[in-house]
Amino acid sequence: MNITLNDTSLLKTDLYINGQWLNRDIKLAVTNPANASLVAEVSTASKEDTLDAIAAASEALKSWSQTTAKQRSALLKKWFQLIMGNQDDLASILTAEQGKVIAEAKGEIAYGASYIEWFAEEAKRINGDVIPQPSNDRRIITIKQPVGVVACITPWNFPNAMLTRKIAPALAAGCTVVCKPASETPLSALALAELAERAGIPAGVINLVVGKASIIGPVLTASSEVRKLSFTGSTQVGKLLLEECAATVKKVSMELGGNAPFIIFDDADLDAAVTGLMASKYRNAGQTCVCTNRVFVHQSIYQSFSEKLVAAVEQNLTLGDGTTEGVTTGPLINKGAVSIVVDLVEKSVAKGAKIATGGSVSELGDCFYKPTVLTAVTNDMPIATDEIFGPVAALIPFESDQQVIDMANDTKVGLAAYFYTGDISRIWRVSEQLEYGMIGVNEGIISNEMAPFGGVKESGMGREGSKYGLDDYLELKYICMGGLK
Ligand code: SIN
Repeated sequence: MNITLNDTSLLKTDLYINGQWLNRDIKLAVTNPANASLVAEVSTASKEDTLDAIAAASEALKSWSQTTAKQRSALLKKWFQLIMGNQDDLASILTAEQGKVIAEAKGEIAYGASYIEWFAEEAKRINGDVIPQPSNDRRIITIKQPVGVVACITPWNFPNAMLTRKIAPALAAGCTVVCKPASETPLSALALAELAERAGIPAGVINLVVGKASIIGPVLTASSEVRKLSFTGSTQVGKLLLEECAATVKKVSMELGGNAPFIIFDDADLDAAVTGLMASKYRNAGQTCVCTNRVFVHQSIYQSFSEKLVAAVEQNLTLGDGTTEGVTTGPLINKGAVSIVVDLVEKSVAKGAKIATGGSVSELGDCFYKPTVLTAVTNDMPIATDEIFGPVAALIPFESDQQVIDMANDTKVGLAAYFYTGDISRIWRVSEQLEYGMIGVNEGIISNEMAPFGGVKESGMGREGSKYGLDDYLELKYICMGGLK
């Protein structure tokens, strides 16, 4: 263990099932991407453990679904407070296993906790309706009820926030959960479970199984007791999970891949656009689903914008170990992630893209890729057609509004899109024409707990966060009261 914590008991390495911490012989090594050192060895779940977790969640559902919204809200608020009270330790665990810089890790803890606070409040607003009746001998009402046991499968890029964004609405709605965090980053999830236990969330309401997706995934998707699957990850895996969930007709929420365009029109404030792009592109070393993937720049400002961006990247970004003072950009999650970026850059350069800065693996180590700007990119190069998940900005020139909208929409996915302009009519026109679930207008960072997060097309289905986020965890029941005199 090479993490310094104020509370070492937050570093949990066992499975969490039915309120019990369970040690298992088969371990998973969690390594620090910044230096390949071993952070911890974590017990892995078998098929039987996963079935036990589902059984525990089913049993706990009987009482949890009967608690009042006020009771659930109070427990969620306690959990929120404990997380914020341990923000520094949780951030240290997150940086050690994921690599993001410590300031971003602290930001993620607060971001993740904000979903718990938000849904603690929303729990009290799960309202039904009284609907005008078609005849006077009856009355129509609707109530909302928890879906049941929910399986949550979460990725390594936001090991804390992607989990809280699912568990919080599930618990607020009265559901119980079985969670499978990514194998690269289970420690943040286990620390969250420890704090949930301390908050008094009853045994079986939250269960956490760590281990091989090939063992745990099929058990979760095949179970008829699991009534919903919420997944964040790649479109490819999302499609497989959808197929598996079809057999038991589960409700599903899918937050899948993106290929975000970032459009800079000729009337944009270029300095503001550079600031927005730096945040949107290089956050978490480019490893978010909403990170800018393609930068479309009007040809009249292409040269001046590229120069400003290159200067900002070279002056403001420092690559290194996320715990080192002054470092802004950490390593990628593993060598495999780096090879994908290397391959995309090489193939695009072979087709004519130019490296304006960066463009190679750093001497700091195998997992560090230099913050990069590519110019002379076209929309059909691999760096534009594929999701990069790395710190590479690919600049594509355009001539007209219609041309850039067509290019931006020319992809199977539709998660987030951004554009900069000073023209109010264009703001409406472009916002409406972009085929994306989320649009940033003169803003590079748009995620927060109050707004609906989610995509269209192959970026998935359902929304997380906001007043809409609870609906994914609720069933609407219609009650017709007839025979009235
Ligand atoms: C993601 O990359 O899936 C989440 C990013 C965010 O919440 O902003």
